[in-house]
Amino acid sequence: MKKENRGQWGSRFGFIMAAAGSAVGLGNIWRFPYLAGENGGGAFIIFYLIFVVLIGMTVMLTEFSVGRMTATAAVGSFKSVDKRWTFAGVIGVLSAFLIMGFYPVVGGWAVAYIFKSVTGLLSNPDVIGSSFDTFITGTWEPLIWTAIFLILNVFVVVRGVSSGIEAAGKILMPMLFVLLIIIIGKGLTLPDAGKGLEFLFKPDFSKVSGKMLLSALGQAFFSLSLGMGCMITYGSYLKKEENLPANTFIVSGLDTLVALMAGLAIFPALFSFGMEPAGGPGLVFVVVPTIFAKMGGIGTVLSLIFFVALFVAALTSSVSLLEVATSYFIDERGWTRSKAVVFVATIMIVLCILSSLSLGVMGGFKILGVGVFDLLDILTDKIFLAVGGVLVTVFAGWSVKKEDLFNEVTNNGTVPFALLNVWYGLVKYVAPIIISIVAIVGIAGIAQKGVMFLGLSIFVILAIFSKKL
Ligand code: TRP
Repeated sequence: MKKENRGQWGSRFGFIMAAAGSAVGLGNIWRFPYLAGENGGGAFIIFYLIFVVLIGMTVMLTEFSVGRMTATAAVGSFKSVDKRWTFAGVIGVLSAFLIMGFYPVVGGWAVAYIFKSVTGLLSNPDVIGSSFDTFITGTWEPLIWTAIFLILNVFVVVRGVSSGIEAAGKILMPMLFVLLIIIIGKGLTLPDAGKGLEFLFKPDFSKVSGKMLLSALGQAFFSLSLGMGCMITYGSYLKKEENLPANTFIVSGLDTLVALMAGLAIFPALFSFGMEPAGGPGLVFVVVPTIFAKMGGIGTVLSLIFFVALFVAALTSSVSLLEVATSYFIDERGWTRSKAVVFVATIMIVLCILSSLSLGVMGGFKILGVGVFDLLDILTDKIFLAVGGVLVTVFAGWSVKKEDLFNEVTNNGTVPFALLNVWYGLVKYVAPIIISIVAIVGIAGIAQKGVMFLGLSIFVILAIFSKKL
């Protein structure tokens, strides 16, 4: 462990852009709108917001504190406090590999759609749906875009924490805001845009269900990049004088803002064109371009802007996932950054090839009843992130000394944090209990029992063997 050579964020603004860059991603622009659409809009959004404030911010502050306190990335953080906890970090690194087994595939689609917008392939509204299906089930085309997307990640991460990840975030995040504002401006001025606002902001509580609550909490974890050591890693590059509660508030606030902005960019226009909100995962790749195509010339420009925004958001997030896995090999194995990045990205590209092909030619190849793409998604979304969230809060609440944690959060008493005790109560009792309930119900509800047992056995195996790592 060579702490002196570890990277560090160059400025507060840079850190916030990088951490918000990690949080703001496909989760906000691709997943949030379709989950809101499928779950009836407003009511889902209210529960989502409650979970973000109560659980999400609590866990984010915990991750930042643990990361900065130990000044090592995911695995090292847990290990340096108590060796028996090493497995919790290892699960985080494993989750990074698994999420990166499908995230760049969708990122690649976004890059492809930038080009399809420019070359006019998205201008005929009648064929957009079928051409999306043909595209993602194809063999070479999606693979090439996925590879391009992953290579861009490698370029950023190889340059290091400050001149790679931070520099990219500082340019790309403000750009993302501007792009989304342009699209929202157009959407809100369309006839009947008010119906979209009503859908988003007027809750229909008859839509509340157990399934909806599960997806709201799951989405909060995914969107805020929690439960797998990502914010621990980013916190570990923070300077000691930074105000952690304030940064937590800003980063989660920005993430929520962008999710709502994505909703505003999509739903008013969607209702204006009389389309269905429950578009599922195809919402932003089918419904959104269809709306733009129906607008004619200006639609081409908006479509281009939209997919650039989607790509930018995806890139700064997958960079953080790549960094979690990379930092393990740097901190714990003493590898150079370039060796670690190349090694990690190579494993990721193999997983991505399998998951991309599982939507097409390898459609018949099932592991425990599901294709690779779905397997990775279910394992991380339903099992690993939630269990990771329970582990990090139990770790911070019960294994780290209260005094050490308080000193870290308040910079040794110099930063006032009025909610310190409330937060500690949430970390120690409320968050582990609520996340556990949701995790248990969610895991028990996984239709593919084989996948459920696979996920759980991975935990047991890691818990037994990872002390050596
Ligand atoms: N938060 C990102 C998104 O919304 C995805 C992501 C990046 C992530 N790092 C993560 C999800 C760590 C879970 C854990 O797209």
